Amino acid sequence: MYFYKVGLGVSESNRQAIHSAICSLVDEEAENFDAFTDTAWLGDINASGDFHTIPEMQPLLERLPFALGEYFEALGVNAEKFQAYISRCWPAYQTVGQEIHLHRHMQSNISGVYYVDVPPESGEFAFYFYDVACEFIPGLFSSDAHAEKGLLKSWNLMRATEVPLVMETDQLILFPSKTLHRVHPSKNYDRPRISIAFDINVTLRSSDKQEAGMPPLDKWQGIDVLSNPS
Ligand SMILES: [Fe+2]
Repeated sequence: MYFYKVGLGVSESNRQAIHSAICSLVDEEAENFDAFTDTAWLGDINASGDFHTIPEMQPLLERLPFALGEYFEALGVNAEKFQAYISRCWPAYQTVGQEIHLHRHMQSNISGVYYVDVPPESGEFAFYFYDVACEFIPGLFSSDAHAEKGLLKSWNLMRATEVPLVMETDQLILFPSKTLHRVHPSKNYDRPRISIAFDINVTLRSSDKQEAGMPPLDKWQGIDVLSNPS
């Protein structure tokens, strides 16, 4: 299983409180909101990346550890050996015609998206794979021209370069941060598509005799990077 998708069960009233907080933030930062650009309003670059610190997020954050635990369990990873941290969290506000272009979050380990409100046809979340493991001729699966010329006879999930997912309100998806992903343009004129993205960094609880993974934060030592006096 590549990703983990779950309904979090945040109550309607708690989700509405988060929704209102996001709309207020978009209003506050209105000078950074352009309804005519093709890119969604993204809180990390238009406001800040600490949306997890507001009190309205608490009901969601109380459920996040269990979702992470289920993801680790599904992957066969021993959760007791690791400590997870939210390192960045921000809302995304996407109106009709807007999309979120192909990207990945290289600075974190696990990324997640919680869906506060997903109106109909407001854009599919999709994973994208430049390098499909079973693509025995590079480019064979990624070009429509090859299919049109008869080299491919049917679509198959195993060779998919893009995997679109229909997400629903109150669902959370977790996936490796290194994975390329995007959100297709919204076609919904009535309501914005509103979601919250998380970046999660994972360290070992103990670095004794372990090579993989970051050591625990209490073993880190800060270095002030200085310039030599000239
Ligand atoms: Fe993303």
